[in-house]
Amino acid sequence: QCTVRYNVADCSHLKLTHIPDDLPSNITVLNLTHNQLRRLPPTNFTRYSQLAILDAGFNSISKLEPELCQILPLLKVLNLQHNELSQISDQTFVFCTNLTELDLMSNSIHKIKSNPFKNQKNLIKLDLSHNGLSSTKLGTGVQLENLQELLLAKNKILALRSEELEFLGNSSLRKLDLSSNPLKEFSPGCFQTIGKLFALLLNNAQLNPHLTEKLCWELSNTSIQNLSLANNQLLATSESTFSGLKWTNLTQLDLSYNNLHDVGNGSFSYLPSLRYLSLEYNNIQRLSPRSFYGLSNLRYLSLKRAFTKQSVSLASHPNIDDFSFQWLKYLEYLNMDDNNIPSTKSNTFTGLVSLKYLSLSKTFTSLQTLTNETFVSLAHSPLLTLNLTKNHISKIANGTFSWLGQLRILDLGLNEIEQKLSGQEWRGLRNIFEIYLSYNKYLQLSTSSFALVPSLQRLMLRRVALKNVDISPSPFRPLRNLTILDLSNNNIANINEDLLEGLENLEILDFQHNNLARLWKRANPGGPVNFLKGLSHLHILNLESNGLDEIPVGVFKNLFELKSINLGLNNLNKLEPFIFDDQTSLRSLNLQKNLITSVEKDVFGPPFQNLNSLDMRFNPFDCTCESISWFVNWINQTHTNISELSTHYLCNTPHHYYGFPLKLFDTSSCKDSAPFENLYFQGHHHHHHWSHPQFEK
Ligand SMILES: *[C@@H]1O[C@H](CO)[C@@H](O)[C@H](O)[C@H]1NC(C)=O
Ligand SMILES: *[C@@H]1O[C@H](CO)[C@@H](O)[C@H](O)[C@H]1NC(C)=O
Ligand SMILES: *[C@@H]1O[C@H](CO)[C@@H](O)[C@H](O)[C@H]1NC(C)=O
Ligand SMILES: *[C@@H]1O[C@H](CO)[C@@H](O)[C@H](O)[C@H]1NC(C)=O
Ligand SMILES: *[C@@H]1O[C@H](CO)[C@@H](O)[C@H](O)[C@H]1NC(C)=O
Ligand SMILES: *[C@@H]1O[C@H](CO)[C@@H](O)[C@H](O)[C@H]1NC(C)=O
Repeated sequence: QCTVRYNVADCSHLKLTHIPDDLPSNITVLNLTHNQLRRLPPTNFTRYSQLAILDAGFNSISKLEPELCQILPLLKVLNLQHNELSQISDQTFVFCTNLTELDLMSNSIHKIKSNPFKNQKNLIKLDLSHNGLSSTKLGTGVQLENLQELLLAKNKILALRSEELEFLGNSSLRKLDLSSNPLKEFSPGCFQTIGKLFALLLNNAQLNPHLTEKLCWELSNTSIQNLSLANNQLLATSESTFSGLKWTNLTQLDLSYNNLHDVGNGSFSYLPSLRYLSLEYNNIQRLSPRSFYGLSNLRYLSLKRAFTKQSVSLASHPNIDDFSFQWLKYLEYLNMDDNNIPSTKSNTFTGLVSLKYLSLSKTFTSLQTLTNETFVSLAHSPLLTLNLTKNHISKIANGTFSWLGQLRILDLGLNEIEQKLSGQEWRGLRNIFEIYLSYNKYLQLSTSSFALVPSLQRLMLRRVALKNVDISPSPFRPLRNLTILDLSNNNIANINEDLLEGLENLEILDFQHNNLARLWKRANPGGPVNFLKGLSHLHILNLESNGLDEIPVGVFKNLFELKSINLGLNNLNKLEPFIFDDQTSLRSLNLQKNLITSVEKDVFGPPFQNLNSLDMRFNPFDCTCESISWFVNWINQTHTNISELSTHYLCNTPHHYYGFPLKLFDTSSCKDSAPFENLYFQGHHHHHHWSHPQFEK
């Protein structure tokens, strides 16, 4: 029952109690995971001497014969995780000299006696996590000199002692994971005995501030670069906490989930090489001007959910003093999402002269009005991206962003902005590329709303109760470089023909969920409003849910680059011939949930030519030769993706075919009549008698 592809045999999840003996002998990978194997008898593997990877994880193996590796001389990866091994001896892996990876995670190995890994000169990764080990000692004398990753998480290791790490004397460890051990002691010189150590993970280890300090002293004069101390109840840091790291080149430090309350002055003053610092998910009460003193090389700082989040009733907001970030001259990325900070102050961000990305989503509790003071402290930051979502912002005053001349992306979505946009709000955004304003309360446009941001290429105004869209000249007129415009979900009913005039670069227009039906009616006073005129680069047009019941002739004319049109959830019934004649590049057409009864060549021939995907589900198709035989024939030969064709394209009329799948309509009886119809009865379809097409059973 195993599946074999190329040289890989997959025998997982088969309740196997024995090794299959009928697999191709040239397999190099054998997956035996999740079975009921108790042993891996070497003789059963003689056939598979080419194996390089053997994965026997998640079985009940309690004993391993040394001869297994003798029979599999090419074995590089041996995975035995989640088994019942309790004893490993000097003999167990003695022949496994070519192994580069050995996974013994989640077994019951409590003790390592003498030197079971002595011959693993090529081993790169050894996983012994989740066993019952009480010591790090895996052997006597230097060995495992090529080891790069040693994973010892979730054991019962209480102390790190140099004599128990001596065996790593010639190793260069890229990663040593000692997380989730009940460590109580780091004895002198313990890390010095390791050849080289670049990354140490000590998460979930219940290190208190004192033990952390001790750890850092032991790490001094090592090659440590990356230290992870997440979830350790490190309630406070002080100048001494990390002082031992001053004789290192530490570049990454993770202090997340520590319930950290006090960041003492100068806590990081000995970490001048640090580039990446995570303080996420803590309980910090206050940042002072010296909290970050010394982080002169930091590039990335996450303070997401870092501050105390007590209930508002306690009136105990975290406090970020002015100039708290002044030392971070090279910081490029700052995340302060999801906090309860009252507001910015005049020097909150002062000194961040390299800052490019600032995320302030759900950061502030009292930032309802943005003024020309709010971001003054960013005046000297070369900010490119500013995220201000979810801050209950209700008003943007003139000149708010005037300090941010290099800003490219401004995200103001999901707030409660409620105002008339004069255009002065955006003053100074000389390089702006995208303004995201979707999901706000109420925006009233004026002719000058975007007059000061002609560089804008993306403008998102979804669900903002947009008013005055029909003002003239159009608010969008200055945006000659606009490529994406989202006006959806605004219940817009009135626009002028020149709304989008001149937007020659527009590629995506989202106009769904509005009320544009009247504008396309023949009976509209002054005739239908052709608001798509001149959008010669339009690629994607969404007009779903607009109550449209007519498409005027010519609205899609010259839109040669259209790739996708969504007209779903409207009331369209009879479409005029030739309306899609310029849409021969169309890839996707959505007309689901309309009132379309017939699908005829003179309307749909051109747009169907290159279509990838068609959605016309839930229309009341008239299953007669005149209405759908061309469509059914087209369906039969097209490669276009039409999902749910059998279940959601059903005949509505004539009544005796009500509910029948349209694709079963038998067009053979229509064929003969076709030329006749064309010659003699053009335009008189209703006279042509229908010759009882039969449905296939
Ligand atoms: C492996 O052996 C099978 C026959 O058992 C053969 O069809 C296949 O080509 C061989 N594959 C390789 C890569 O040699
Ligand atoms: C290790 O693998 C190589 C091929 O990669 C092989 O030539 C050599 O014999 C193997 N070593 C042992 C001890 O089996
Ligand atoms: C450690 O490695 C070096 C060279 O990489 C070698 O000269 C030395 O003999 C090794 N020491 C031991 C104890 O294996
Ligand atoms: C900020 O706006 C106020 C008016 O609201 C104005 O008096 C002041 O000069 C502006 N400050 C700057 C720096 O533009
Ligand atoms: C519009 O785009 C063109 C071509 O990329 C560019 O040269 C021009 O400066 C842009 N206009 C504005 C106002 O940014
Ligand atoms: C569908 O097309 C195939 C040829 O591609 C033809 O043999 C078959 O009769 C057609 N079926 C119908 C229902 O038109």
